[in-house]
Amino acid sequence: MSTLESKARAASITDMTEYVLPQHANVFGTVFGGQIMAWVDLCAAICAQRHAGRPCVTAFVDDLLFKRPVRVGQVVRLRAQVRATFRTSMEIEVSVSGEDTTTGETWPTVECFATFVAMSDDLQPAPIPPLLLESTDDEAAQAAAEERRRSRLAKR
Ligand SMILES: CC(C)(COP(=O)(O)OP(=O)(O)OC[C@H]1O[C@@H](n2cnc3c(N)ncnc32)[C@H](O)[C@@H]1OP(=O)(O)O)[C@@H](O)C(=O)NCCC(=O)NCCS
Repeated sequence: MSTLESKARAASITDMTEYVLPQHANVFGTVFGGQIMAWVDLCAAICAQRHAGRPCVTAFVDDLLFKRPVRVGQVVRLRAQVRATFRTSMEIEVSVSGEDTTTGETWPTVECFATFVAMSDDLQPAPIPPLLLESTDDEAAQAAAEERRRSRLAKR
């Protein structure tokens, strides 16, 4: 049982907005999958560190399904939020969407879960504040994350 005070999910929600430039794109003029993955990792890392109050490392990233591309001149929007906490690790959900600023259209691009571990000053996993479960949705997300965690740990 953690002695740290619980923190609300809203306290660490992290939003990022990226303008897709030619250096982010492949020969088809759409953003590289690896570039999206880098932005996902950064957005999730900021969210994890806001929640933990200390530096965190990426331990695991679940499958990524790219649903629809984003082109040069369009915008990538990312939102990361803590969905579950364990002792030293937490599951962060990242939602990525495309946006055409000239039409206002937005579309889902990627949804994924990443697991981050908080690190102490001597580089050991460090306890984190539990997530405050404020709704039945929060409780369901924590329970679903516990299932996913079991399968991630089985892959070690
Ligand atoms: C992540 C890391 C710190 C875990 O270290 P470890 O020696 O396995 O430590 P532990 O066994 O005590 O596990 C620590 C926590 O990580 C979690 N964890 C470890 N491997 C995991 C995995 N593959 N998936 C999900 N969680 C994992 C454990 O469940 C534990 O969480 P808990 O305390 O909430 O139960 C270590 O594997 C590491 O440093 N990996 C490299 C990280 C990295 O370089 N990332 C990319 C750059 S940021």
